[in-house]
Amino acid sequence: MRKKIVAGNWKMNNDLNQTILLIEKLKKIEINEVSVMIAPSSLFLKTAKDLLDDFQIEVVSQNVHQENKGAYTGEVSCDMLKSIGISTTLIGHSERRAYFNEDDEVLLEKVKYAISSGMKIIFCFGEQLIDRKSNKYFEIVKNQLENTVLKLDSECWSNIILAYEPVWAIGTGETASPSQAQEMHEFVRNCVSNCYGDLISEEVSILYGGSVKPSNAYEIFSNKDVDGGLIGGAALVSSDFNEIIKANS
Ligand code: PGA
Repeated sequence: MRKKIVAGNWKMNNDLNQTILLIEKLKKIEINEVSVMIAPSSLFLKTAKDLLDDFQIEVVSQNVHQENKGAYTGEVSCDMLKSIGISTTLIGHSERRAYFNEDDEVLLEKVKYAISSGMKIIFCFGEQLIDRKSNKYFEIVKNQLENTVLKLDSECWSNIILAYEPVWAIGTGETASPSQAQEMHEFVRNCVSNCYGDLISEEVSILYGGSVKPSNAYEIFSNKDVDGGLIGGAALVSSDFNEIIKANS
């Protein structure tokens, strides 16, 4: 049975003290069958990892570079992450695509490199508002997947989590309606099934991301193809994050 996951993407928020404070609050959350993850700044991954050593919250990276080492100022490699016990990373977040020019070609290198390094990935994708308005969203999402994760061998899929994040819903307060989320998640699962068969497509967790909050989480997570969420803003408030975790239980 596929995993239910709630992952908090902290983005470039929280200094060291704020990171420690929020983690101390998260430690009090009761977690049952849901997998919970947080992605703090790479600067504080080790601190977070140490603080959560005995807890059921996995610390994951927001990003990784596609090369293992070398003259790539400011970047972080899989080996570096693994050396501090981090084994999962986000790849392809829309903010990486938009502000750091990460296109499908680079993202394919990243996913290949991360998976061959033995890491798990949370691969993010989703259409822009203009694609939604012009009814091109299925086509755009299909292309994003076909150019990246759908090029991987079937054995890689036990290490892949997908995260559908319509760009128009990220940080905007506007959320995809439950039916918009469900139809896209079902479409994505079918794309995976067409390439690798039902066994793999039924096992892959597909998260929804984009302005998920306590007030809409239950409705979104109740869709049969929505296996949890990638949470931005609401993951910075422990009580909201707790509610969202409960909504997925
Ligand atoms: P949001 O961000 O929940 O603040 O919309 C989601 C994300 O970017 O992963």
